[in-house]
Amino acid sequence: MWPYPRILAHRGGGTLAPENTLAGVRRGMVAGFRAIEYDVMLARDGVPVVLHDPVLGRTVAAPGSVTDYDALALAALDAGSWFGPGYAGEPVPLFAEFAQYCKAHGVWMNIELKPAPGFDAATGTTVARMTAALFAEELDHAPASGQAARVPLLSSFSEAALQAARVAAPRLPRALLVDALPPDWRERAAALDVAALHVDHLALTAAQAADVKAAGLGLFCYTVNEPARARELLGWGVDAFCTDRIDLIGPGFR
Ligand code: G3P
Ligand code: MG
Repeated sequence: MWPYPRILAHRGGGTLAPENTLAGVRRGMVAGFRAIEYDVMLARDGVPVVLHDPVLGRTVAAPGSVTDYDALALAALDAGSWFGPGYAGEPVPLFAEFAQYCKAHGVWMNIELKPAPGFDAATGTTVARMTAALFAEELDHAPASGQAARVPLLSSFSEAALQAARVAAPRLPRALLVDALPPDWRERAAALDVAALHVDHLALTAAQAADVKAAGLGLFCYTVNEPARARELLGWGVDAFCTDRIDLIGPGFR
């Protein structure tokens, strides 16, 4: 039911490197991680980039928003200096290059579709198409072959993005991200044909976890940074989670 890794480095390398950068992925790999969550949105020209905030300024040293720039202009901006001088010049990654790098290094991906306002469907369509093309061979194998476990999982708070992804690449697995489980989670999951629910662990109860698992869905939590809490969630039947504290919670955590 959950063929993927159980412990993911959040935003690439957690809080040990600048988020959503290749430096972050490399830092996660040094810690032994071969599974990450990261965020993707479209630039002005419709080309996806790896970025969390549509409004620049926090991690990217530039004014305006992601849709004020074409992707290549974003890729020339500094997404590392905010974290530390050793990361000055670390670029905003183009999604295509970032995903290829992860695939080439055996790093499994939970790709969060994080559309800039108004770009929900376009983000789902574009990222799903590109991901399906990158993993075309794996998608052609039978689910039982083990190849399917290498295929990325697309997740989003945006149901419009997930629906668009479903149309663009129906065989790519999807997950619905929520803060707290809504009362109609079963209906929403069925309507979107998602494989999993991704829930804020702070809003999850043991009873809810049991209900989600009994419904046959995968259950993922974000963002779990304390080992005792991580152990408790796994005890509730949570399949997997992402963490910022890759120094405290390693890929083999139990
Ligand atoms: O995908 C889980 C988590 O990353 C969602 O929240 O804001 O860190 O992207 P955020
Ligand atoms: Mg995210």
